[in-house]
Amino acid sequence: MERAGVSHPDGVERAGASAIPHSPFPIPGGTEIAAYLAKHETKPLLRFITCGSVDDGKSTLIGRLLHDSKRLFDDQLAALEKDSRRHGTQGERIDYALLLDGLAAEREQGITIDVAYRYFDTDKRKFIVADCPGHEQYTRNMATGASTADLAVVLVDARKGLLTQTRRHSYIVSLLGIPKVVLAVNKMDLVGYEQAVFDEIADGYRALAAQLGIAQVQCIPLSALEGDNLATRSPNTPWYDGPALLEHLETVPVDPFDAATGLRLPVQWVNRPHQNFRGFAGTLAAGEVRPGDPIVVLPSGRRSTVARVLDASGEASVARAGQAVTLTLADEIDISRGDVIAAAGDPPQVADQFAAHVLWMDDAALLPGRPYWLKIGTRTVSASVTEIKHRIDVNTQEALAAKRLQLNEVGYCNLSLDEPVAFAPYAENRALGGFILIDRQSNATVAAGTLDFALRRAGNVHWQHLDVDKAARARIKGQVPKVLWFTGLSGAGKSTIANLVDKRLHALGYHTFILDGDNVRHGLNRDLGFTDEDRVENIRRVAEVARLMADAGLIVLVSFISPFRAERRMARERFEPGEFLEIHVDVPLEVAEARDVKGLYRKARAGLIPNFTGIDSAYEVPEHPELRLDAGGDAPEALALKVLAALGLE
Ligand code: ADX
Repeated sequence: MERAGVSHPDGVERAGASAIPHSPFPIPGGTEIAAYLAKHETKPLLRFITCGSVDDGKSTLIGRLLHDSKRLFDDQLAALEKDSRRHGTQGERIDYALLLDGLAAEREQGITIDVAYRYFDTDKRKFIVADCPGHEQYTRNMATGASTADLAVVLVDARKGLLTQTRRHSYIVSLLGIPKVVLAVNKMDLVGYEQAVFDEIADGYRALAAQLGIAQVQCIPLSALEGDNLATRSPNTPWYDGPALLEHLETVPVDPFDAATGLRLPVQWVNRPHQNFRGFAGTLAAGEVRPGDPIVVLPSGRRSTVARVLDASGEASVARAGQAVTLTLADEIDISRGDVIAAAGDPPQVADQFAAHVLWMDDAALLPGRPYWLKIGTRTVSASVTEIKHRIDVNTQEALAAKRLQLNEVGYCNLSLDEPVAFAPYAENRALGGFILIDRQSNATVAAGTLDFALRRAGNVHWQHLDVDKAARARIKGQVPKVLWFTGLSGAGKSTIANLVDKRLHALGYHTFILDGDNVRHGLNRDLGFTDEDRVENIRRVAEVARLMADAGLIVLVSFISPFRAERRMARERFEPGEFLEIHVDVPLEVAEARDVKGLYRKARAGLIPNFTGIDSAYEVPEHPELRLDAGGDAPEALALKVLAALGLE
């Protein structure tokens, strides 16, 4: 863009994916931020976010801050003046909001979208601002911006006072553990700089902050447009004896937000340039490390001693939280990416079941039981939400019953990980307590969350060793366990074909069992209906039962619609390679509907059965089934023979 210089006074980055130290969430613009930090190494840093809507005057406020901190160069200012006349909404005056509208689209829509990071500095401090839009649907952006902030500037319009969105912003601020808030009561000029107006809003906000557990609140009356109490105190508010906004940002103490604990180093990568050197690199999430310190590696529990500490400038005698280091150890022990190297005398907990807040960010709902990738620190493991305890109305903080979480909703959930991880409650350490969930099909980040506490320590529930194992059970039956997983629309012929295959296998002397959707739903799964979340749970349970049966040495025939790829994949992952055969009983919807053996399609079309597969509930066609049966053409007997052939039996 031609105005790039103005839009990016000290650099603006739009959402990308690289990570920076200390953020549990993917933070855009990692490299630019790193370059900026290096340039201003010696000055203390304050990271803050701004929350509010365009109407509150947020863009003007930030633009003005950048301007008044005198970090705009003359030519940028000239361009801004020119631009203000062309696009601005302020007549001949400078439209500071234009400083921020880096994207033409935003300007056209008159709104600000996505999180933008801006860097500026004054003589006392350097600043990174994450600018988060105020629209309801952009809660996710705010969470991204908030995850590393020391302070939040919550903006309100003096004429409107506290709004629902003020509550929402403040709730997320408290959820993500930002300890300090500035309530910027903007547009004081439009209420005649009335102290009473300000006092009422400030009192209301302090009450809200107390309710949310936000410890420190500074309320400032200002006018971003007129510059009142922005960089300097304004003569228009003689009754206000607090600091101007910039003054406050320059002087507010920046406390380390993570509790003081022993060393925690999530291992980012293992550096092995040659046989004689093995270093473990990462950013210290907490504590200090010195050569000679005893350490423990988690979750394995292996112990050693630090041999050398290397930082950017070489051999170091100590490194502290926030620093990037490489450690070498006295012993050759097995450590890989995702492990946490911790102080032997003060290690973090290790667990695989958690209570956590989850902020859902995807258009498709969060369904309990569905596996996602969970990334915590540098570790990625498979995990699922086992239960949504309740959903939290982010506008009122009310706890509401919920079976799923929709876009931008926050839930208090139980999480189950497939493997134990070293962690800390988010309140103690953001890097080891913050996590994201990633969709396993699309690789998109679908949630951000904060761990509250472990529900049980990993290791308290053990696998019991059994002497008669799967192989022994299969051997005595003279067969190899298999799972034949029939999937397809209702009425496709899954059960008919499975039944024919079963009869033949039985006649040949094989030990088999059929798990049929309609039957299992009368017993084990009688509590489940046909919503997406119930189908997820339906398949999870039947996959577990099929596994137990395969462990018993059986050939298991599973006949369930199993409409979702994610759950079929989850089922597949329960079994050994080659054990699981996905069989797509493929029939065009029209054919299944025309047959309508059980009369269900007719009822569904009449609106009597909601969530009917193929009508108003999705069927996701298998992408790589071991076998596809053309059930619209061939007869069930012929299709059963194909299954037997695939087993090498006909
Ligand atoms: S699944 O989607 O969760 O795998 P499942 O195979 O257990 O479904 O059950 C499907 C059977 O339930 C169908 O064959 C049909 O007889 C019956 N049924 C009742 N309501 C529905 C519905 N809304 N959608 C699909 N099948 C339904």
